[in-house]
Amino acid sequence: MCGIVGYTGHKPAQEIVIESLKKLEYRGYDSSGIATYEDNIRICKKEGPIANMESVLSESTSTTAIAHTRWATHGVPSDANAHPHGHTDNSIAVVHNGTIDNYLSIRESLESEGYNFLSESDSEILPFLISKYYSGDLVEALNKALHEIQGIFTIAVIHENHPDEIVAVRNETPLVIGVGNSENFVASDIYAILKYTQQIIYPEDYQIVRVTAESVELFDAELKSIDYNVETVEKYTEVSEKGGFEHFMLKEIFEQPKALQDSLTELLVESPLERLGLNWKIGSISIVACGTSYHAGLVGKYVIEQLTAIPVSVSYSSEFRYAAPVQGVGGLLSSRPLVVLISQSGETADTLAAARAAKQQGCHTVAICNVPGSRITREVDGVIITKSGQEIGVAATKTFMTQMQALYALATHLAFNSGSLDHPQYKLWESEIRRIPSKITQVLNNCESIKKLVPHFTRAKSVFFVGRNINYPLALEGALKLKEISYIHAEGYPAGELKHGPLALLGEDTPVVAIAVQDHTYSKLMSNIEEMSARKAPILTVCQKGDQQVPKISDYHFELPEIDPVLSPFPVAVFLQLLSYYIAHDLGTDIDKPRNLAKSVTVE
Ligand code: AGP
Repeated sequence: MCGIVGYTGHKPAQEIVIESLKKLEYRGYDSSGIATYEDNIRICKKEGPIANMESVLSESTSTTAIAHTRWATHGVPSDANAHPHGHTDNSIAVVHNGTIDNYLSIRESLESEGYNFLSESDSEILPFLISKYYSGDLVEALNKALHEIQGIFTIAVIHENHPDEIVAVRNETPLVIGVGNSENFVASDIYAILKYTQQIIYPEDYQIVRVTAESVELFDAELKSIDYNVETVEKYTEVSEKGGFEHFMLKEIFEQPKALQDSLTELLVESPLERLGLNWKIGSISIVACGTSYHAGLVGKYVIEQLTAIPVSVSYSSEFRYAAPVQGVGGLLSSRPLVVLISQSGETADTLAAARAAKQQGCHTVAICNVPGSRITREVDGVIITKSGQEIGVAATKTFMTQMQALYALATHLAFNSGSLDHPQYKLWESEIRRIPSKITQVLNNCESIKKLVPHFTRAKSVFFVGRNINYPLALEGALKLKEISYIHAEGYPAGELKHGPLALLGEDTPVVAIAVQDHTYSKLMSNIEEMSARKAPILTVCQKGDQQVPKISDYHFELPEIDPVLSPFPVAVFLQLLSYYIAHDLGTDIDKPRNLAKSVTVE
């Protein structure tokens, strides 16, 4: 979603912030802009890629700049709605991530005072409001403005009277300060500035930051100066190349065996439960996440409930926050509920809000996250870091894979700890988890046969994905992948549920992808396939190697490598990712940056 970068130092700021802004492009945006200090504040902004803005940008000698990539929330993508927003007198420029809930009433009141708005954006109230309160100190002016606004935000401001100063603040959305050598940075995301510094400050909500080339100051709401820690973060391997692949998504699909391998050491450690603070008999688990991470959570429910006696509920983050309190809250400490939050980015606003709600209720919180140092990892009680490496494609692939792996590892640890797995059984599970990378490599090696299936889907009106038991979440994930990158309508369903309504939609132009592994639901699934076939829907099945029956009732089939059905979600996921990828490729969509979507969803 929106990205913010600011620089103040002794070098030409324009080049630095634009280069940093480009590091955030993968997150999705529709316009970009920059403000520099020339004789007064100069703003340049344009709809479309950063290159559009660069093409109209004049030279600059400014050593201070703020820049922004916008993902529209209030008002269409346009030059006027792009950030930074300024004052008509060119005294100030503001960039904003998030949303201002009460902007309409503030706008009306500012308009009645004579302020002239040029955009539809909620953010445009900020430069006017801050200017109105400005009397020589930018920190003070921003603080006064904060008393009026409600919402979630990261804000960065520059003012003509303070040419070497950036003032910034956050509430619920990310803000990091990068400390350099006679230069300092503000950013919404460490990726933007890691090239320049690994010394990072993480301000808390409503702490106002003032950075100059030589200083960083933090202030509380009373404007008292406060101490801060500077943390050294691990340098994240920067991903800028597709390594010979046509898209990042395809590269990331093929990186999955390595991602699983790299994550293993983190997951199969000594005493992992103590490390996560899980030192009591857990009575219930709630898993909370969005999108693909939610689907990983659903797989986790099946595996945890199969291996332990612990009941697991799975909720969308955006629903969890407003639902009834978690079961077990308020009971004895020994039954303290565990809430597992899954987010590859660690910055998803809904999941962060859910984490805070869980903590407020007294739950123990554990996050499964792919980005060390991200917001969620700093707010929860325990963290499992997956080691997928940076994921650039908006469609989550390798992070989904390692999230599932983390949940399998957690399930086996919980089962061993509670005695439902003995040591030999635990060791067996561990070795099965270790074999997953080689299993999915076999699917990757078979990608040519997946490509051949594409013509059966490109003209489809709609595609249904069905599965049962642990592969029901994979049906949901298959449908999500397809719709997100190919724009073909797709639905994921438990196979037994189609006859309760959706069967009415099936026909020759509505193919079905059925995941048919040989677990205890196999015979029922066969009947479901027959039902769908009788409605003339073309059936593609994903079945286990050596299955003699399913291919006979399918129009096409794909064989998984030999694998225990409980581990089948891993190779099934690879098959579904590749199928969606090749269909989207055939249709010529923008696979790495699908329309309307963002990699990191920082608004609720
Ligand atoms: C999936 O392909 C999407 N990119 C999306 O559903 C994503 O999984 C969701 O927005 C959650 O993101 P998170 O894991 O970073 O919290």
